[in-house]
Amino acid sequence: MVLAIIAKLRKRFRKTPSRPQRPDADGVTYRPLRSLDERIEGWRVVIEDDRQRAMYDRVAASIDRTAYAALQDKYRAEIEAAEELAVTKYLDLAPWFMIHSRLARMLDIDTRPKCSILDIGAGGGQFLAIAKAYGHEVLAFDKPDPAVYGDLLKLCGIPRIEGSVQLGEPLPQSIGRFDLIMINGQVFDVFPKSGGKRWTVSEWASFLEYLTATHLEYPSTLFVGLNKSAGPTGVEEFLWPLVDLAEEHGATVERKRATMHYELTEPLNFEGASKDPWLTLGKA
Ligand SMILES: C[S@@+](CC[C@H](N)C(=O)[O-])C[C@H]1O[C@@H](n2cnc3c(N)ncnc32)[C@H](O)[C@@H]1O
Repeated sequence: MVLAIIAKLRKRFRKTPSRPQRPDADGVTYRPLRSLDERIEGWRVVIEDDRQRAMYDRVAASIDRTAYAALQDKYRAEIEAAEELAVTKYLDLAPWFMIHSRLARMLDIDTRPKCSILDIGAGGGQFLAIAKAYGHEVLAFDKPDPAVYGDLLKLCGIPRIEGSVQLGEPLPQSIGRFDLIMINGQVFDVFPKSGGKRWTVSEWASFLEYLTATHLEYPSTLFVGLNKSAGPTGVEEFLWPLVDLAEEHGATVERKRATMHYELTEPLNFEGASKDPWLTLGKA
């Protein structure tokens, strides 16, 4: 009886445990020099889905803390001197693991049979790091610079073929064919020396037909998560007509974030859309 009363009183006066707060008030504030574990803990609280959280936890655990701290030291002066974080924001792994574990959840990276995955414009490789943590065979395709991307890929043990997507040019043969191709937050569709002008739907359609004909095994998955690429300066808006076209051709699309998820049994053929074969583009 006395014990029951004590337990009741304890419960009544127990302090409410303080819930860790999301580490950014509005939008993402990058903190690449903070402790990795502190950042991982802070961003973990925003993940509501159990499977996504499990993927986030697994990739976070896979990072060698000593090697990570050495990278922070390597880029410390650059980060402290910069007024705005440019590519060094990718060193702050936690928000990127949060973003990419959401994509990994959409693509069932945790449950799909072991497969080969190519990430075009992979950046620091956070998506591939998750896939690798689940035993998939991963490859990054990206430009050789900036160095921070290469350092992050090394940290996660992800191989990269260096190169660049260029209008009308084939990708290197050595890339091969894959079960899943990921394109997220692309900028390869910016025309060089154009002041930010980007490909139209027609150029995208040509590229996706070429890509799926030459670099996918079947059945396979293609995922495209757009960067903002339309509007007067080419960065204000997503290229919605491309999302519409994808939906018309069987992709599952997310309207909030302009993502397109194709499950394919054969190469894409955007019949009826005006476009020229990829390898003829940009030759005039
Ligand atoms: C905004 S970052 C996105 C990185 C990563 N996909 C992500 O979701 O976090 C754009 C990436 O595209 C790469 N990139 C830029 N131009 C490219 C090109 N012509 N061909 C291939 N990749 C390119 C950059 O090096 C960078 O890795």
